[in-house]
Amino acid sequence: MTDIVLARVLHVLAVVLWIGGVGMVTTVLLPSIRRSYPAAQRFAVFHTMEARFARQARITTTVAGLSGFYMAWRLDVWDRFRSADFWWMHAMVLTWLVFTTMLFVVEPLFLERLLSRRAASAPESAYRLVEWLHRLLLSLSLLTVAGAVAGSIGGNLFTW
Ligand code: HEM
Repeated sequence: MTDIVLARVLHVLAVVLWIGGVGMVTTVLLPSIRRSYPAAQRFAVFHTMEARFARQARITTTVAGLSGFYMAWRLDVWDRFRSADFWWMHAMVLTWLVFTTMLFVVEPLFLERLLSRRAASAPESAYRLVEWLHRLLLSLSLLTVAGAVAGSIGGNLFTW
């Protein structure tokens, strides 16, 4: 075991827990709540159930970010950010930035209040918005994982 191996292991474990959780919320939790609760109750039920995952995701995104930047520093791969061939490096940082901003800034400061208000006046469309937001974030995350898994061994997701 070396420090780079440890960083990689922590990085992938954090990504698995975090993106796996996003997959579970998007494909299982949100549709189940939609089918089981009337529109007026959906947002509140989702909010209660998701709160625990959001706390976990704040930890896993932090571990993924720290281990990612540590690897980038130790492997000295900063020049990759100047090449479009390494789009998956940009995608990792972008995905991380989007989630970190959502979890630490946007959600606690604005989004939660904004969605609660919208859920009170237009519950059906507010819930649909939450579902689409999660589908979008899951798609970006899965594309990033696929690109990084292929790219880190010199492969390319889009060419044979
Ligand atoms: C601050 C953000 C991040 C940084 C700086 C970062 C950096 C890195 C670095 C340097 C590597 C090793 C690349 C190599 O071996 O050539 C790596 C691997 C990887 N990262 Fe990230 N990463 C970040 C966020 C993410 C995110 C958000 C995801 C997933 C959504 C992700 C998924 C992966 C995967 C799947 C690998 C490849 C693991 C393997 O196949 O062994 N990373 N990352």
